[in-house]
Amino acid sequence: MHTIRQANLNDLNTLFVIENRVFNNDPFALSKSSFRYHLQKNIIFGIEVDEKIAGYILWLKRKDSYRLYSLAVDNDFQGLGLASKLLENSFENLKDKKRFTLEVKVENKKAIKLYKKFGFKIKKVLKDYYEDSDGFLMEMRS
Ligand SMILES: CC(C)(COP(=O)(O)OP(=O)(O)OC[C@H]1O[C@@H](n2cnc3c(N)ncnc32)[C@H](O)[C@@H]1OP(=O)(O)O)[C@@H](O)C(=O)NCCC(=O)NCCS
Repeated sequence: MHTIRQANLNDLNTLFVIENRVFNNDPFALSKSSFRYHLQKNIIFGIEVDEKIAGYILWLKRKDSYRLYSLAVDNDFQGLGLASKLLENSFENLKDKKRFTLEVKVENKKAIKLYKKFGFKIKKVLKDYYEDSDGFLMEMRS
């Protein structure tokens, strides 16, 4: 059974542990202080499996859109549909904007496939967007 809820400061350590396992030394991984900031200022939904957070999605609210800033599912829980549930739940809750954007590494096939499943389309190639690769800017209009 899984539950999705808004994450809070009590989840800080759990989120940080997941982040390090999933992004594994990627310079792109969020620090603990970034999580603390985002938990206070932005929107993080966590998905619980057996009452423990196994993944999260982080959204930044913009004037006319939401930007998906990070999404991660803990290694042992990938491929079970949890990221799909987090996205579904986000679109049910974030209804005040019609435009959603994100950036993703061009070689992250798994994530790109997931985003396309939810209607995101590649809008632009972002040259050298990441330290080690180019990115795609993707957009979805609901
Ligand atoms: C990308 C990520 C969030 C997906 O999470 P997940 O819970 O495993 O995803 P789901 O089980 O909901 O699968 C969703 C879709 O992803 C794609 N997908 C999942 N596993 C895949 C695989 N092994 N190969 C190819 N596509 C795959 C499929 O399109 C799948 O949908 P489908 O099952 O209907 O075909 C997860 O793999 C992750 O945390 N990766 C590392 C961090 C990352 O890359 N985050 C995104 C950065 S922008």
